[in-house]
Amino acid sequence: MEAGLPLVKTEQIGKVALLIIDNPPVNATSHALRAALKAALEAAIADPAAAAIVLIGAGRGFIAGADITEFERKREEPLNPANIAVMEQSPKPIIAAIHGHALGGGLELAMGCHYRVTTSDAKLGQPEVKIGITPGAGGTQRLPRLVGLKMALDMIVGGDPIDAKTALAYGLINEIIEGDLRAGAIAFAERVSDKRPLPRVRDLPAPAPPDADFFAAARAETAKRKPELNAPQACIDAVEAALLPIDDGLRREQEIFGGTVFSEQARALRYLFFAERDAAKVPGLAADTPIKTIASVGVIGGGTMGSAIAICCADAGLSVTLVEADKLALDRALATIRAHYDGAVKRGRLQSDEREKRLARLHGAMLLSDLRGADLIIEAVTEELALKGKIFTELGPIAKPDALLASNTSYLDLDLLAEASQRPEAVLGLHFFAPATVMRVMEVVRAAKSAPSTIATGMAFGRKIRKIAVTVGACDGFVGNRLLTQRGREVERLLAEGVAIEAIDRAMTEFGFPVGPCAAGDIAGLDISYRARKQRDRFWPLADAIVDAGRLGQKSGAGYYRYESGSRTPLPDPEAQRIIDAARGSDTRANLPSDAIALRILSAMINEGARLLDEGIAARASDIDVIWVYGYGFPAHRGGPMFYADLVGLPKIAERLSAAATRFGDDGLKPAPLLARLAAEGKTFHDWKRS
Ligand code: 3HC
Repeated sequence: MEAGLPLVKTEQIGKVALLIIDNPPVNATSHALRAALKAALEAAIADPAAAAIVLIGAGRGFIAGADITEFERKREEPLNPANIAVMEQSPKPIIAAIHGHALGGGLELAMGCHYRVTTSDAKLGQPEVKIGITPGAGGTQRLPRLVGLKMALDMIVGGDPIDAKTALAYGLINEIIEGDLRAGAIAFAERVSDKRPLPRVRDLPAPAPPDADFFAAARAETAKRKPELNAPQACIDAVEAALLPIDDGLRREQEIFGGTVFSEQARALRYLFFAERDAAKVPGLAADTPIKTIASVGVIGGGTMGSAIAICCADAGLSVTLVEADKLALDRALATIRAHYDGAVKRGRLQSDEREKRLARLHGAMLLSDLRGADLIIEAVTEELALKGKIFTELGPIAKPDALLASNTSYLDLDLLAEASQRPEAVLGLHFFAPATVMRVMEVVRAAKSAPSTIATGMAFGRKIRKIAVTVGACDGFVGNRLLTQRGREVERLLAEGVAIEAIDRAMTEFGFPVGPCAAGDIAGLDISYRARKQRDRFWPLADAIVDAGRLGQKSGAGYYRYESGSRTPLPDPEAQRIIDAARGSDTRANLPSDAIALRILSAMINEGARLLDEGIAARASDIDVIWVYGYGFPAHRGGPMFYADLVGLPKIAERLSAAATRFGDDGLKPAPLLARLAAEGKTFHDWKRS
């Protein structure tokens, strides 16, 4: 906000006082806004000229909730409950006029008003659970009184907003205003200005007690879906308190809210909320960097990755041409894509007419010259430099002059491909994570000569296809896979010491990963990392022994685990352990506790993260966290490897690495210079900024 501009402006329109909330970008209720709102409410209530009061948001929405940045410390009065108390004691009707979003504290304020009207495209929700907390300004008590226990529980535990039509059907709002909201809300206020008694949500009866097992079933279901998270269970406790008289329920809500707001999980999830948004800001890229329009995309290679990229583009409304060199492979790719959409329709996630629209945007082709009209061409063929180099050489003269050329390589030298194209300024990496239709993140890789507008367009393309795009520098493995390699190296070391395969995976799933590193290797296909190691003369005898025994992971029915035909469930397999023991020349078992195993693996990853920051490959620690949370399943409630390092304390991580370096006689394990420096200075990765 510019200095001097009021956060809440009052306009008198006839007998209606219009309170305009103006705290860009999303009207979050910061302390200053709460104080300004209280003053404006009290003034309007006292003003004899005002018979009714309308609360409306300036800009893109009503109120997106409390100002999340304030949750790190004790928040100052007036809090939202104080403003709701002022509104509920008002002798004049107060109407919330909602457009855009009314979320969290925004919806709670609206439910403290006597009436709520919205535009037809408004969204209303209690998303607090997504940042690890429960609603804290009456949402858990007023929402069930308005919409019933079941709907309130769905909204508060799930965190997803509902649309205006649903809100009207459930009685959360009084009216949808077609046309101008401001005018409609004023007309509504005039209509109800004399109506008494004033309807207050707090006076509605508490919901009737549900079936005996209603809350137990909700708890069991939530524990099954999100076993590691505290906030969803706390939300159920708070909604259950809506059965109490309202003031008792509100008191209970406060206790529960107080228990979640400073929890480690909430701190991690809040951190990620801002980390995700920071990732969109690319250091060194001017805000006015031109962004090219991408309407048509060419994808080269119809394997698993290429097909998934094509689907992401078609889903986002882009026209896609998928190129495969031979007819059989092209037909297979198009059949895979159709099967994907058929599955979505079958599971009820997509309407069949929408499937047809998306399929109609997809075309198959067999020649690179068919891509001459594409705005962006993404190469997604197998990881072979010669093949990719040939494609970039051919693309240079074929692609239209202002097209962008991208490679989905995970490891290979992007600068070589850029030079081969003879238009290196237009070349970038777009590194998707498997499965690309599911994983939310994408690395936008800056090659040595990528033009600023190439990177800006790559980031905009990421947003368009609904990915969290993160700009990274070019190197072998970029950010995500550099950490992945260190994880694999540490797993190899643990196996060599005699730690059992299942013990390693258990340690990481107990930490919160959906699957352990060995099971994850089986899913990805062990031959892929095997081939990458061979290309680099990297020798990991134990991991290699598994592949040399013909065990490639799920696809071959066996890897670190065995798989029954058609099943993806990893079953412990003594044969895999026997192969590893034979390769290490010992079958003695080392019984390390799970937390020690996890800390060793994570320390190796964190050390690599510090190197990436020092080298400038990652711009900030939070970018590394975003990539690992949304690209590799690092548990979000732990914030990511670098956030976790700050939480554990960098001196402890550095100490552990130094001890390992001495024990294994391996200087590569020593704390990276940046980690050592920050640890010595008592600083965190979060504090660190590139000078
Ligand atoms: N507090 C502080 N900053 C916020 C904020 C909030 N509640 N919501 C959004 N912002 C900031 C973002 O960080 C971003 O800042 P930046 O431009 O500097 O990066 C800017 O506002 C715009 O946000 P988005 O990029 O997310 O904009 P979108 O248009 O994509 O999305 C939105 C808008 C749907 C409102 C989305 O921002 C959102 O979901 N916000 C969070 C909503 C939320 O969690 N509310 C509950 C808060 S907790 C609460 O209310 C507790 C109460 O019960 C006591």
